[in-house]
Amino acid sequence: MLETVLVTGGAGFIGGHLVERLLEKYHVVVMDNLSTGKISNLPQHPQLDFLFGDVSKEKDVARVFELYTFTYVYHLAAIASVAASIENPLGTHQTNMDGTIHLLNASKKQANTMRKFVFASSAAVYGSEPTLPKRETSAIAPITPYGIDKLASESYVISYSHLFGLKTSAARFFNVYGPRQNPESPYSGVLSILTNCIQKVVAGDEKVAFTLYGDGSQVRDFVYVDDIVNGLILLAESAESQSEVFNIASDENHTLLEVIAMYEEIVGKKLPLKYKNARAGDIHQSYADISKIKTIGYKATNTLKMGLSKYNQHEMEQAQQSIGIS
Ligand code: NAD
Ligand code: UD1
Repeated sequence: MLETVLVTGGAGFIGGHLVERLLEKYHVVVMDNLSTGKISNLPQHPQLDFLFGDVSKEKDVARVFELYTFTYVYHLAAIASVAASIENPLGTHQTNMDGTIHLLNASKKQANTMRKFVFASSAAVYGSEPTLPKRETSAIAPITPYGIDKLASESYVISYSHLFGLKTSAARFFNVYGPRQNPESPYSGVLSILTNCIQKVVAGDEKVAFTLYGDGSQVRDFVYVDDIVNGLILLAESAESQSEVFNIASDENHTLLEVIAMYEEIVGKKLPLKYKNARAGDIHQSYADISKIKTIGYKATNTLKMGLSKYNQHEMEQAQQSIGIS
C-alpha cells in the first residue's frame, strides 16, 4: 500500500508543484481553504484527495488527522505575502502561527509513525540586518508580521522535535518563482507580475507598464520552483536534516533592474517601467549562502536565465492554448 503524505496549502503555487512530484510515489492529501490557491493548480489523479479546510481552525485540522495516518507532512499553507501581513497582522497570525501549532499538535499524536514534518519558512526571518549572504547562523531580525510568524513557527517546529520526539525540519525559502504563480494580486510575487507584464508587451499591448517599488536596486535570490520541490523532498527524506533549519535558494543574486534586463533580452522587447515609493517593511537585499543544504545533497539546478526562459515559454504555450480553445 502507498504511504500517505499531507500537503497543507497544496493548491497554492509551490504546493501544486510539490503535489505533482509526490504523486509519483505517494498517496497525497491536500488541505487548503483556496484563499489564494486554486483547484486548477492540482492534477486530477486517483492517488490525490482534496480536503477543503482552514488550518487556523483546530477542528478542521483534527478532522484531517482522524481520517489519515501520515508518513510525511509538508506544511505550506500560509498567507504568503509580506505586504498582506502588514495590512492584516491578526488575520495573518491566525493562519501563519495558530495554523502551525494546530498542525504540530495533531502531528505529535502520530509522532511514532511520521517520518518528517517539514515546514515552509522564509528568508524574511533574517530581516534587514545587513550581513550578507544569509547563513542559517546569521542574525535573525524579522521586521514584518509575516517574518515574525515564520520565525515563531519554525522555532515551534524544531521545539516539537525536542519536546515530543516529532521528527521535523524547516526550510527558509528565498524568492520562489515559476509557472502557476498567481500574478493577479498586487501582493503577488514580483516575478509573476513581471512575467505577466512581459507577456502583454510581447502580445503588443502598448499600455502596459511594470510598477517598480523603489529604484530597482533591491537584491533578491530568485529560486526556481522545481529546485524548491527538490529541496523539500530532500529535507523530508534525509535523516541528517532532523531538527534543523536550512536555506533553500539559488546560489545567485540580482537586482530587480538586472532581472528586468535579463527578461527583456530573453523576449527581445523593452518593458516600460513606472516607479513608486519603496514598500514599507521591504528588505533591501536578501540572498543566501546554501552551503548547509548542499552538504546533504542539494544542488540548485536552474540558473535565473534558465528559469525565466522556462517560465516565459510556459506562459506563451498557455496563451496559445487559450487562443486555440476560444
Ligand atoms: P500561495 O499563496 O500560492 O500558497 C499558499 C496556499 O495556502 C494557498 O493554496 C492558500 O489557499 C492556502 N492557504 C492560505 N491560508 C490557508 C488556511 N488558513 N488554511 C488552509 N489553506 C490556506 O503561496 P506560495 O508562494 O505557494 O507559498 C507556499 C508557502 O511557501 C507559504 O508558507 C509561504 O509563506 C512560503 N514561502 C513562499 C515564498 C515565495 O517566494 N513564494 C518564499 C518563502 C516562503
Ligand atoms: C517574497 C515572498 C514571501 C517570501 C519571501 C522570501 C511572495 C508574494 N512573497 O517576499 O512569501 O517569504 O519572498 O524571501 O511570494 N516589487 C515591485 N513591483 C511589484 C511587486 C514587487 O517592485 O509589482 C518589489 C517589492 O517591493 C520587493 C521585491 O519586488 O522589493 C520582491 O517583492 P515580493 O515578490 O513581494 O517578495 P518579498 O517581499 O521579497
